[in-house]
Amino acid sequence: MTSFSDPSYSANNYLQFRPTYPTSFYNLLLDYHFQRGSYSKDEDQYVTNTPKLDKLLDLGCGPGEGSIPLLPHVNKKIVANDMSPVMLENVQQNYKLTVETYAINADLKFSFLGGSADNILQLLEEQERQDHETHSTDDVGDFDMVISAETVHWLKPTRFLDNISKLLKGDQLGTLAYFGYVDPVFVGFPEADAIYDEIVYESGMYLGPYWQMPGRARLRALYRELNDLLLKDDRFTDTIVEYYDPSGKIEDGCVTDKSELAKKMVIEKEMTIGDFLNYAKTFSAALKWAQANAGKGGVDDAFEVFEKKFADKLGWTLDTKVKVSWKTVYAFARKV
Ligand SMILES: C[S@@+](CC[C@H](N)C(=O)[O-])C[C@H]1O[C@@H](n2cnc3c(N)ncnc32)[C@H](O)[C@@H]1O
Repeated sequence: MTSFSDPSYSANNYLQFRPTYPTSFYNLLLDYHFQRGSYSKDEDQYVTNTPKLDKLLDLGCGPGEGSIPLLPHVNKKIVANDMSPVMLENVQQNYKLTVETYAINADLKFSFLGGSADNILQLLEEQERQDHETHSTDDVGDFDMVISAETVHWLKPTRFLDNISKLLKGDQLGTLAYFGYVDPVFVGFPEADAIYDEIVYESGMYLGPYWQMPGRARLRALYRELNDLLLKDDRFTDTIVEYYDPSGKIEDGCVTDKSELAKKMVIEKEMTIGDFLNYAKTFSAALKWAQANAGKGGVDDAFEVFEKKFADKLGWTLDTKVKVSWKTVYAFARKV
């Protein structure tokens, strides 16, 4: 079980302090799906004029960050899956609020599936059974798009691709899009990156030992294992994998040519150190660290140490504003 399924995990803090995915990324995704090379990037026009997806599935939806921006682009149905009941309750409220606030298609249907995305075929079949007296298990394979945002590292890679190949429309009409971000870089402040590495990974006293493996390692590697499987998988075509690393390691996707940047998912944020620490408190390892150390005397609070090190080494306070930029990855592929 991940910390996200723990009843004491705050889905609200997650939504408030985690970064969101940029509009430019959704434009790339919709351009890819509808096979449009140079569609107008005027956002209002985009929402009004882009053809719509009939059915979208979001695996590991959390509070809905990944799929909420796609709501205006879906005609018929969105299926949201998460194994955490806390998250599933939260996403329902967030979808409802988005539909009301932006007056989105009132006929759009939603369904919420609790359980592991590794078992998504069974979960959908079970839902079909409940929805119809007479059911057809073939009905699960008619999604225009399946997305998974910041979640595939928790799933079994081969099984994930097997499942997706059964869920998407064929004939290159169905798109798989998974994406993620990890390890924010403090732009221009390598000393701050070193403090982050120490508290979050390297020191045995803080969050380091509390990461669940192999999930965290897969995310830190920007899903390379899964990306390589996908690139070789002949059930998919037109596969694109784009890495972005703002810390400047070229082999990891650092961009030297400005025109290349337009293809990347760039997630940057100006934030106070206070909000940065609140973001770090949403890490699954942060809850596990807190649970393991609650009430123990003589243990320094990981986040107080974080704050103190920023103050001592860089003179930063909780109100100091910094620019952070995440390492990111996305993969798009069409079902043959
Ligand atoms: C880091 S959050 C990502 C949430 C959201 N998609 C986003 O982009 O912010 C990971 C989510 O995956 C869910 N999760 C973890 N393992 C899962 C699994 N095997 N099946 C379904 N959901 C899972 C967690 O409960 C959590 O909500």
